[in-house]
Amino acid sequence: MSKTQATFDPKPDSHVGLSLFGKIALFCYTMNVNEKKQKTLLSGVKPTGHPHIGNYFGAMKQFVELQNTHSGYFMIADYHALNFIQNAGEMRQNILDLALDYLALGLDPKTSVIFKQSDVQEHTELAWIFDTITTMPYLQRAHAYKDAQAKDKEISVGTFNYPMLMAADILLYDTDVVPVGQDQKQHVEYARDTAEKFNRIFSETFKLPEPLILADVAVVLGTDGQKMSKSYNNTIPLFAEPEEIQKAVMGIVTDSSGELPKNVFAIHKLFRPEAELKSLYEANNGKYKVLKEALIADIEAFIAPLRERRKVLAQDEKSVLKILAEGAEKAREVAREKMKVVREKIGTTL
Ligand code: TYM
Repeated sequence: MSKTQATFDPKPDSHVGLSLFGKIALFCYTMNVNEKKQKTLLSGVKPTGHPHIGNYFGAMKQFVELQNTHSGYFMIADYHALNFIQNAGEMRQNILDLALDYLALGLDPKTSVIFKQSDVQEHTELAWIFDTITTMPYLQRAHAYKDAQAKDKEISVGTFNYPMLMAADILLYDTDVVPVGQDQKQHVEYARDTAEKFNRIFSETFKLPEPLILADVAVVLGTDGQKMSKSYNNTIPLFAEPEEIQKAVMGIVTDSSGELPKNVFAIHKLFRPEAELKSLYEANNGKYKVLKEALIADIEAFIAPLRERRKVLAQDEKSVLKILAEGAEKAREVAREKMKVVREKIGTTL
């Protein structure tokens, strides 16, 4: 199938978790893209452990849905993860795991470029160049930096500089669109600002990327009602085994007011259309155990085929390594050309 052909899947149940408005927005966005020249999409995930359903609904689901209508680059952000994982064995395992996750979700190495950041040295090179045109006060405004500072954490230069490496990731590929969750919005803005600043100083070089954030799933909530995040220990892992699903769902915090258990409902609506859920929740008003069991069944029905596909793929590590090596080659080709232009612009090419 031609990459510019419309391949958007209009089945309503493939977009459970999105309101009608969200579905229409994604549909219009895709159709609009199809009419125009093919756009470039890039996004990434840090290999810091098992992804959760927040990563999936907030970002990874869009990767899979948009890969046929875009020229897609899907990155394993291992140099970003180095800020958190400083153990070689763990890093290696996490990278392989994330590659398997991408493939099990349906990213197709034939149509998309699946690669790891550290394989393309141009990312760190460009990040350095961006450092030289970026001020400290500007980076001090980053949410992640401010949070770390508020918690009195020791902040590495890598953490401080995180947005510049991410700007390099995005801008090297002339990216049009970056599908992410709400927490990455500011980082995409940093990339845009940095592109503008470079263009202003050295003349037009970088395209300005747009974030793609779907309102309904911009912030997926965890089992305690806060944003789902590994660091809050409130996640439902994306490839969870049945016992893990059971444990996570039974641990969802509910209040005893007898009202609709909003934390259960908020997660449930990712898996079943809201209209259907309303009647289920009304019919079982106050019966938290029944509702949690229904949620467990729905999550299991969704995860089971993904988990099985992942297990099959995991038996062939060699193929995964080959996919990453080929992805790196394709990404390098593009990044190398872009860096030739950048070096000309800054005057280091003699
Ligand atoms: P990371 O690995 O923290 O998260 C991966 C993606 O999952 C989204 N996400 C969520 N979305 C909705 N609700 C949640 N509770 C939730 N938790 C996480 C994140 O917004 C993200 O889209 N800096 C990036 C990785 C990165 C990147 C890039 C992304 C590096 N370079 C270039 C895009 C483009 C990160 O740490 O994502």
